[in-house]
Amino acid sequence: MKTHLMLIKLLTLHSLLVLSVSHTFDFFYLVQQWPGSQCDTKYSCCYPTKEKPRPDFGIHGLWPNWINGSYPSNCDSNSPFNAIEISNLMNQMESHWPTLSCPSNDGQKFWGHEWNKHGTCSKTVLDQHEFFSTTLKLKTHINLLGALKDAGIHPNGSEYSVTSIRDAIKEARGYTPWIECNRDASGNSQLYQIYLCVDSSGSRFIECPVNLAKKCNTSIKFPSF
Ligand SMILES: *[C@@H]1O[C@H](CO)[C@@H](O)[C@H](O)[C@H]1NC(C)=O
Ligand SMILES: *[C@@H]1O[C@H](CO)[C@@H](O)[C@H](O)[C@H]1NC(C)=O
Ligand SMILES: *[C@@H]1O[C@H](CO)[C@@H](O)[C@H](O)[C@H]1NC(C)=O
Repeated sequence: MKTHLMLIKLLTLHSLLVLSVSHTFDFFYLVQQWPGSQCDTKYSCCYPTKEKPRPDFGIHGLWPNWINGSYPSNCDSNSPFNAIEISNLMNQMESHWPTLSCPSNDGQKFWGHEWNKHGTCSKTVLDQHEFFSTTLKLKTHINLLGALKDAGIHPNGSEYSVTSIRDAIKEARGYTPWIECNRDASGNSQLYQIYLCVDSSGSRFIECPVNLAKKCNTSIKFPSF
């Protein structure tokens, strides 16, 4: 009888593990966006209610991903975004994770979307406060704009080769980024988002385990902001 119960317990534990495995992930993408490339397209961009963002990369998100290239999303509707939980991070959120969506707003909609879609899928590793504080820490630590400026790559409307942008970051910070481009209102290919990979505990950058092919011209514009 006892062994029987044990077996049932083991089986239950096993199915729980299997269940949770299907919701975990292999690594994160830390995605940052250049505000100048969002605001010079033919689509509209709105500054946050409080102020125009600083001329710096802004966080888009920290996205759990699988090595097969797909990713989990919207993993727990019972764990909604709650701004109160990150009230002590508000100043940092406003300066490093600004929203550019219209109509102009305080950013909570953007942060809520990022938590609900992505953060809930890594909450076994990072709770809500940790998800945002970890992302902020990674972003300020990697300081992409500093790495680019040190290599003579300035957001002044000039064109730079994608290779020179990638190499500048790789050489200064040690990790190879993926560059995503979009087009300005005249159709020029430009630096839009930069992806870096982070290990599944959110504690350190890693080389990306998958290749992210992103459409960029060989030479791309780095618009001012
Ligand atoms: C990728 O891997 C995850 C985790 O093993 C799995 O749940 C998902 O279905 C896979 N997706 C594809 C497209 O293979
Ligand atoms: C932008 O900065 C670079 C590096 O300082 C410089 O070579 C280039 O001429 C500048 N472009 C413009 C449009 O000012
Ligand atoms: C990409 O580069 C080619 C060759 O330099 C150029 O002809 C083309 O217009 C560029 N396309 C964009 C979208 O910038």
